Amino acid sequence: MKVHLFANLFVLIFACKNVESSKILGVFPMAAHSHYTLGFTLMKELAERGHEVTFITPYRHKEDIENLKLVSVEEVVEGVTEQKKQLYNMHEWSFYYQAKFILNIGIDFTRKIFNIKSVKDLLRSKEKFDVIIMENFINDAFIGLGNHFKAPVILIAPGPTTYLCNYFVSNPSPSSYVPNIASRFSSDMTLIERMKNLYYDILGEYLIHLYAIPKHNEIMQEYLPGTPNLREIMSNVSLILTSSHVSINTPAPTVPAVKEIGGYHVSKPEKLPNDLQEFLDNAKEGIVLFSLGSNLQSSDLPEHMKNAILKTLSKLKQKVLWKFEVDIPNKPKNVKIMNWLPQNSVLAHPNIKLFISHGGLLSVIESVHYGVPILGIPVFWDQEFNIRSAENNGFAINLPFKELNERTFSTAVNDLLNNPEYTKNVKSRQKILHDQPLTPMDTAVYWIEYVIRHNGAHHLKSPSLKLKWYQINMLDIAIILTLFTILLFVIFYFIIKHIISMFGDTTAVKAKKN
Ligand SMILES: *[C@@H]1O[C@H](CO)[C@@H](O)[C@H](O)[C@H]1NC(C)=O
Repeated sequence: MKVHLFANLFVLIFACKNVESSKILGVFPMAAHSHYTLGFTLMKELAERGHEVTFITPYRHKEDIENLKLVSVEEVVEGVTEQKKQLYNMHEWSFYYQAKFILNIGIDFTRKIFNIKSVKDLLRSKEKFDVIIMENFINDAFIGLGNHFKAPVILIAPGPTTYLCNYFVSNPSPSSYVPNIASRFSSDMTLIERMKNLYYDILGEYLIHLYAIPKHNEIMQEYLPGTPNLREIMSNVSLILTSSHVSINTPAPTVPAVKEIGGYHVSKPEKLPNDLQEFLDNAKEGIVLFSLGSNLQSSDLPEHMKNAILKTLSKLKQKVLWKFEVDIPNKPKNVKIMNWLPQNSVLAHPNIKLFISHGGLLSVIESVHYGVPILGIPVFWDQEFNIRSAENNGFAINLPFKELNERTFSTAVNDLLNNPEYTKNVKSRQKILHDQPLTPMDTAVYWIEYVIRHNGAHHLKSPSLKLKWYQINMLDIAIILTLFTILLFVIFYFIIKHIISMFGDTTAVKAKKN
């Protein structure tokens, strides 16, 4: 018994030692603050836990962190500022056009990253890594880094599993009850909506497999020559960690190589600047926080919307804190504007009563984490999807961008502030989010170290990775059964025909006799 215990202890120490200081490459080049947050919080945590982390990033953090080495790609930041101005127009585009726009951003962006000197230097270096952690955001060519550095690859999905990542691990996503991320459906779909959802899924699959993946393969072959075809190596991905959780997203199937870590990016609230802290503390009637995130600028809102919003806000007894990038003439007394604000730390303040948001997934998660109801003004991509889901869970009102006017805005704001149901519902969601055996961050670190301990943890892989799409959906069997059924009918038909003709003959003979 004792020996057993010792052996266990030894294995435990050895296992921990094994991963105590692994070499980790983090690939998070996307020039958007929300994407940066997803990478930075995780890389920082891994560095603090003693791993040696190399982090490809377009942004710089304030102070140096031990064990965290930057490979800066800040060159890419400038290029996207102009693209971001287009985002307000996106709600008018068709599904196909939106999807293609996003895919093209991803393709251009990936090529740009491979062309940056710091990245080229890293590729030429003799560096070795035990694991590569990369954000999965239409940058499939980066998968080749796994082959290049001979290391397992873990993907961080900036949302729930979607057709943008399902194929790596063959994760099922039935169109009958898993709404497409760019749709406006909840999981409760009518027959027509299910048909549309199937159409969106097929269109998405088509764009990914016949348009994006071949392009990414080209990029990969150009910058990482000698890599096998992308289609062959993509199933080598070890694990996908998703920013989702049942407290926030509608439940959907996940294979063992998918783990949910939604909420891991929410860090402890930081100390606020004195004037902001005072503003929050002194708002006895409560505060409405208003922010459209880092990609959309509130100051770019059309004039009539700005006026409608200001008119409503000025009539509230609550104070309003608005992330607004320029000065507002005749700003109402109860409104404070800041061109940048520490959203996470502000949301943590107990006086916050309502969050008016664009519905970015990280904002929705933070809202649930701190128990604040949401007025969602979704503009593009997954935002309406996130808000719909929050609305279904009873803690949000969905006010699509193009429907925003004084009447709709003021009705929604007042309903959310005066009806206690919304707060009650968000608090119960908050409880679900926090009721987990490990915190989302501990879960993330556990599975990352697990992949290192088990050399890529390929035993988690679903056997369906070996099957073709029509085999997984059993279309081959359906065709065989259909053909077989048709054959049976044909045989039956001829038998009947034969019998009838026999009868026909005998009656004919009888008729003759008479
Ligand atoms: C597959 O993953 C393993 C690690 O799990 C890695 O060593 C290998 O290089 C990868 N192969 C390819 C072709 O990417």
